[in-house]
Amino acid sequence: MSTPHISAKQDEIAKTVLMPGDPLRAKFIADTFLDNVKQFNTVRNMFGYTGTYKGKKISVMGSGMGMPSIGIYSYELYKFYDVENIIRIGSCGAYTDKIDLYDVLLAESAYSESSYAYVQSGTYKQPYTYPSKHLNEKIEAAAKALNIPITKGVIHSSDVFYRENFDDYKKIYENYDAIAVEMESFALFHNAKVTGKNAACLLTVSDSLVTKEATSSDERQNAFTKMMEIALSLAE
Ligand code: HPA
Repeated sequence: MSTPHISAKQDEIAKTVLMPGDPLRAKFIADTFLDNVKQFNTVRNMFGYTGTYKGKKISVMGSGMGMPSIGIYSYELYKFYDVENIIRIGSCGAYTDKIDLYDVLLAESAYSESSYAYVQSGTYKQPYTYPSKHLNEKIEAAAKALNIPITKGVIHSSDVFYRENFDDYKKIYENYDAIAVEMESFALFHNAKVTGKNAACLLTVSDSLVTKEATSSDERQNAFTKMMEIALSLAE
């Protein structure tokens, strides 16, 4: 069996899938942390792999950037491959100087101006979607066991990376309590809800809209390791 965007056979994908935005980061995770790795997707170079972590089966696949992209992949994984849990592991930009570069954040909700949820299910317009409580509890326990501090908060899922009015972020921080921005969680959480599945989102701060600091891609790779270890320990 395959879907328009995933060429895997039915049993080639684990119940839990970690989703970085970048398919090459999915490859890095598979190469670095997993044993018995088998690649299950190459369509559009959106690489996906299944392997074992400490003997337990887990998959990792790129989501691409933005809600339309993660919307397609997460829906196909939940609906056609019987995936139960998707944990996004991504990067974000800080909206407040209370958080620092390389901090690990756990989304408690995703705020968005996006019409994704309304268009997808035609129900009602709402500015927030939510992760699975049970997955978030597991992530918090895993972070504690690994001694990695995490900050919980509202995440802004934006459709736009380059805004004409850069300072608009301040209004979103003030009005919606969003502490950081990325571009995917709102759609992922919505898809989990409509398919009756589970989603969560862990983020590493890669830049700050307040201080304008940014990280290099090498630095990001190292910092992301902490977040990956937390997420990988949810393999079951
Ligand atoms: N904006 C949107 N998404 C992001 C950012 C940002 O500044 N940084 C990392 N992901």
